[in-house]
Amino acid sequence: MKKVLITGANGYIGKCLYYFLKKKFKIIGIDKEKSPEKKIFQCDILNKNKLNKIIKKEKPEIIIHLAAQSLVDETINKKKYYNNNDKATKSLLEVVKKNNIKKIIFSSTAAIYQQSLKPLKENSPIKALSTYAKTKLLCEKKIQNEKNLRFIILRFFNVCSALNKPIIGEFHNPETHLVPTLVYKAMFNKKIYIYGKDFNTFDGTCIRDYIHIKDICLAIEKSIKYLFKNNKSNLFNIGNNKGLSNKEIVDYVKKKTKKNLNLKYVQKRKGDVSKLVCDSNKVKKILGWTAKNSNIKKIIDDEIKWILKLNKIGLKRKFKNYLS
Ligand SMILES: NC(=O)c1ccc[n+]([C@@H]2O[C@H](COP(=O)([O-])OP(=O)(O)OC[C@H]3O[C@@H](n4cnc5c(N)ncnc54)[C@H](O)[C@@H]3O)[C@@H](O)[C@H]2O)c1
Repeated sequence: MKKVLITGANGYIGKCLYYFLKKKFKIIGIDKEKSPEKKIFQCDILNKNKLNKIIKKEKPEIIIHLAAQSLVDETINKKKYYNNNDKATKSLLEVVKKNNIKKIIFSSTAAIYQQSLKPLKENSPIKALSTYAKTKLLCEKKIQNEKNLRFIILRFFNVCSALNKPIIGEFHNPETHLVPTLVYKAMFNKKIYIYGKDFNTFDGTCIRDYIHIKDICLAIEKSIKYLFKNNKSNLFNIGNNKGLSNKEIVDYVKKKTKKNLNLKYVQKRKGDVSKLVCDSNKVKKILGWTAKNSNIKKIIDDEIKWILKLNKIGLKRKFKNYLS
């Protein structure tokens, strides 16, 4: 069994991936936050000595690099993005090189693309506006510049929902993503704010590309297999190929929860475009991956199961202000 190291293994995607891949590979993780899992080591990637000790001892054959300052919020100190994304990736790459590891998968983001109403392809124009996107792009370049490393860069669109076995999902503090915010607030009768109903779309609300976490895990699993089989680097968009409007999600949540939502449409935010959707033909062709779990029914139904579990164990979601 191949040994796989996940960085950021205590985060949303990392934790889900850890359990998803456990039956198929020998999995270890690292995260700067403490985890109850004994194979997830507490280590800040910036601490090169500690990182090197773990990697030297554990000898993973491939790294899935998910650790990042991932919340997109320009009020967060820019240094946090440069440290946890750019500098941490540099530190990781040095340790990877030292230990002769030849394969890496990196989680990048659709936020690096210039906004466009057309579906975004891997070769669509790049324009990283946020500090988050700028630092993710720097990481991509660092990885691409490593001569002896084979890599897959995955540019994720909006990751959402939860796994079923075990039931595990998103728990950010504060929560800023649409699906977990909307479903939670609907279930617990809290005030919901939606940005904008005057976008240039069929129902006036903005359209984004949502990807079920199970499809993200499957894309990473296929990327691992591709790297071991072909030993070639590549870069893919990971999205659904079609979007969902905020109103479509609201309507489904309303129907499913049978609640009268306490919902208000507020002014759209500066810079928000009408539509951001992925063209995922390349990944379909090369990895044979499609977003087969990313339909609205499965996304919302699985999120509800996860919220019921959170409620059972007494965990409450926290929100900064409005929905995003
Ligand atoms: N969730 C999404 O919708 C989405 C979309 C596009 C890209 N991504 C990317 O996917 C990856 C995972 O996203 P997520 O939603 O799970 O994020 P997350 O914030 O839930 O998890 C990130 C984890 O990385 C850890 N971490 C941060 N800096 C570290 C460091 N210096 N050393 C060790 N650990 C560190 C954090 O403690 C956290 O547990 C990130 O790279 C993110 O940029 C996510």
